[in-house]
Amino acid sequence: MVTSRKTVLITGGAGFIGSHLAERCLAEGHRVIAIDNLSTGRLGNIEKGITFLHADICDPSITTIFQKEKPDIVFHLAAQISLQNSLRNPIQDAQTNTLGTINLLHASKTVGIQKFIYSSTGGALYGEPEYFPCDENHPITPLSPYGQSKYFGEQYIQLYSRLFRLNYVSLRYSNIYGPRQDPKGEAGVVAIFTNNMLDKKTPTIFGDGSQTRDFLYVSDVVNANILALSEKANGAYNIGSGIETSVISLYRELSALLHFKKEPDYRPARTSEVSRIALDSTKALTEMGWKPEVELQKGLAITAEYIAANRNPN
Ligand SMILES: NC(=O)c1ccc[n+]([C@@H]2O[C@H](COP(=O)([O-])OP(=O)(O)OC[C@H]3O[C@@H](n4cnc5c(N)ncnc54)[C@H](O)[C@@H]3O)[C@@H](O)[C@H]2O)c1
Repeated sequence: MVTSRKTVLITGGAGFIGSHLAERCLAEGHRVIAIDNLSTGRLGNIEKGITFLHADICDPSITTIFQKEKPDIVFHLAAQISLQNSLRNPIQDAQTNTLGTINLLHASKTVGIQKFIYSSTGGALYGEPEYFPCDENHPITPLSPYGQSKYFGEQYIQLYSRLFRLNYVSLRYSNIYGPRQDPKGEAGVVAIFTNNMLDKKTPTIFGDGSQTRDFLYVSDVVNANILALSEKANGAYNIGSGIETSVISLYRELSALLHFKKEPDYRPARTSEVSRIALDSTKALTEMGWKPEVELQKGLAITAEYIAANRNPN
């Protein structure tokens, strides 16, 4: 539990991870403001008690919102999250992920916030790993405009820390899954496979399925954000399970859960997607006391149950 009530402003608060974080902050007793342009987020994700502001993080009027609401803490999650979209439209990706972040940093400096907590990426930052699992000292060689634009965000935050003593934490997430993830996007393989299987449609695997990802349940990433509030937490931290799971074994797990018998439809591997990834989160354990709590099998079962109960079949 927190020691004092703060005003927390969550960008992307109507999205998948942001809405879970907003609920947790509310439960911890904070005043919660969610900012979202609803490009992928949904109003239905906003719980009663959360102040919702329909706004774009790239808009200069963000500073006026900050002046009015006076946030103590900014959790910055709003982003263009699709790696494939970033290849198709790198300008739009950089506008949201890099310029949007700078706009928020400017507003944060103007009102003098206590801490800026950034949702970065571990999965798209390090490129094809030179060793496993990747720690924070691994060379940063993104393979997509998305990975690059998120990293520019991190670097700009560091600049604001050097120039204006901004306190910050950048959390480099692995592949997050759980209830409310958008199954229509390209990013949430758990949501996509589960929806396809429930619709009796054959899911597509890009590549031969041997590519690995580091899957982490959404409540674990929410815990990391809450622990990032502590004074000890400072700088960049990997947030992942450290476990490599192949896409085909994820497929098998979900098939078994949902009694789905068909084999996947294999298509050629997509550009910019790494063949293996796993994150070493020892630094987050040592400095913030964070560790993953929800095992994959359990997280998948909760997610599949949620999707089955809430989806709109087509
Ligand atoms: N889901 C993952 O596996 C994962 C992995 C690594 C990093 N991340 C990061 O976590 C954050 C949240 O991702 P998510 O999976 O919840 O995605 P999401 O798409 O559900 O959430 C992003 C939210 O930001 C909003 N948004 C987008 N552009 C905006 C803009 N210009 N102004 C205001 N709001 C805007 C969207 O409407 C959406 O609600 C992102 O920063 C993403 O880069 C996610």
